[in-house]
Amino acid sequence: MDKKVIYSAVQPSGNLTIGNYLGAIRNWVSMQDEYDCFYAVADMHAITVRQEPSELRRRTLELVALYLACGIDPEKCALYVQSHVPQHAELAWVLNTIAYVGEMSRMTQFKDKSQRHAENINMGLMDYPVLMAADILLYQTQLVPVGADQKQHVEIARDLAIRFNNRYGETFTVPEPLILKSGAKICSLQDPTKKMSKSDENPNASVFLTDDRDTIVRKFKRAVTDSGSEVKFSEDKPGVSNLLSVYCAFRGIAIRDAEREFCGKGYGDLKLAVGETVADALAPVQEEQKRLLSDKKYLSEVLKAGAEKAYRAARRTLSKVYRKVGFYQGE
Ligand code: TRP
Repeated sequence: MDKKVIYSAVQPSGNLTIGNYLGAIRNWVSMQDEYDCFYAVADMHAITVRQEPSELRRRTLELVALYLACGIDPEKCALYVQSHVPQHAELAWVLNTIAYVGEMSRMTQFKDKSQRHAENINMGLMDYPVLMAADILLYQTQLVPVGADQKQHVEIARDLAIRFNNRYGETFTVPEPLILKSGAKICSLQDPTKKMSKSDENPNASVFLTDDRDTIVRKFKRAVTDSGSEVKFSEDKPGVSNLLSVYCAFRGIAIRDAEREFCGKGYGDLKLAVGETVADALAPVQEEQKRLLSDKKYLSEVLKAGAEKAYRAARRTLSKVYRKVGFYQGE
């Protein structure tokens, strides 16, 4: 039987946090053998908010190097940059004609970003979910591993697939979101009731994959904790619980075991242990990313091969779509 198709992408905007690492990239790695995976750097999505061109270019390559450093194997999956495969934009155009302005204007992220970028509410920002649907549907994707914040977008992709299939006949596989648990709930170190975000204004709130050892240890030392002194995972201790979650995710142990380890110890011990654990875990990834970034020729080759793999699959779907909607394609 054919393997199930998995699609996911990350935007090259802002630095990735340990939440992105635990919640997305680490899971992608574990799915490479079992599934047919397409992993992209969503540069076309990134420009829906203003980007500095030279930074966008640099971040795109950094993200590719990071995927590879984390263990994404370009032999096993298609690792590519979205703008290298023109079918994404082409399918998005067709899907635009079945997407309604009303439903797009009601999307949570659109409303949220319209507020945050009130000076730049562009058509692309509103069209973001349609482009994302095109990403997913081009590859006849079955599963889309994403954080909970992207669930609504995957639902729009489902709706558009069903709508298109109803109007023009069976064309797209209807995808399902795969909401990743571990890491999906890593919270801000400064406000542990909020998700850790790569765009948080407070630099101490998020730990970035690019942070050096001292920075990581310092950020955990400054993490907001709770009243009381017992290291225990509980609802009334969001700060301590968050630190325990991070610790366990990186150590691969159960919360119970971590609680036992810190029995009789204090918050300070926990903070130091988490900081050092995270720094130790990220050091080899950072080193490998740096090595890869010094080998641009290799990175270009990986991206070229990835784009070709994606292109072959994307072309098949797009020509089916063009036929269904009635575009003349020659005799
Ligand atoms: N919107 C996603 C995010 O910001 C990134 C993304 C773009 C994506 N295209 C996708 C995720 C397709 C899953 C599938 O996280």
